[in-house]
Formats: sequence, C-alpha cells, structure tokens
Amino acid sequence: MRILVLNGPNLSMLGTREPEIYGSTTLPEIIADMRAHAAEGGHELLDFQTNHEGGAIDRLEQRDFDALIINPGAWTHYSYALRDALASLTCPVIEVHISDVTAREDFRKINVLTDVTTQQIAGSGPRGYLEAIDALA
Ligand code: DQA
Repeated sequence: MRILVLNGPNLSMLGTREPEIYGSTTLPEIIADMRAHAAEGGHELLDFQTNHEGGAIDRLEQRDFDALIINPGAWTHYSYALRDALASLTCPVIEVHISDVTAREDFRKINVLTDVTTQQIAGSGPRGYLEAIDALA
C-alpha cells in the first residue's frame, strides 16, 4: 500500500514548537519512524508538509496514494476547503493529532473534518502517527 502522510501548518516546527504540548520529536524524526514502520508492513510512505492550504489540496489531487494519514493542524477547526477535498477521496483517511484537541481551548473542540475521515487518533503524541499506520493495516 502507498500511504501519503500529509502534515499541515506549523508541523514543520515540531521539536521546538511548544514542546510542552507537542514534545521534542522533530517532523523528520517522525517521518523516519513512520517510513521504517510502514516498510515492516510492506508499505511505501510518501510524505508532504505544507503551510499552505491550496498546496495541501493540490497534493491530494495527485491521487497517487492508497491511504492517507493527515495531521491538518489548525485547518482541522475551520477549513471547509480541506473538508471538501477529503470528502472527494475514496481511500481510507486517518486523522492524527499529537495533542488531545478535545481537552484544550474551546476552538480546538470544533472539528469540521471528523465526519469525512475514517478514524481519528488524538493525544498519543508522535506515536499516534505509527498507530495510524497500524489502523490502516
Ligand atoms: C494539532 C492540534 C491543532 O489544534 C493545532 O492547530 C496543531 C496541531 C495536533 O497535532 O495536536 O497545529 O493538530
């Protein structure tokens, strides 16, 4: 299976960004762990990070993957454009959040993507990305 992992805005800064919330693991470290874990299951990992909503939608339009793991960052809480893009996919979509978005500020409790994703994993830290691969398998 070809799995695309798409990370949205500010996730490029993992490791130094609010480490008390998101931990000290960097995005390249997460991707390396994911790639190794995916390979164990015979899966190929494609990865993409962008701070630009249109860039994320353009990447999804390439349709070169069999499953999607997405951490949409703050887009989770308001992006109907991303919601429409996810709704147009026919493959499994696992939504990952490093933090427990349900236990933070009120605006993070609003999720406009949940019902167009297959499964959500939140609050497991970076391990959530590995759990997402297991969920696909
Ligand atoms: C996040 C949670 C979002 O609310 C926030 O905007 C992020 C990261 C998480 O992984 O916990 O950028 O998606």
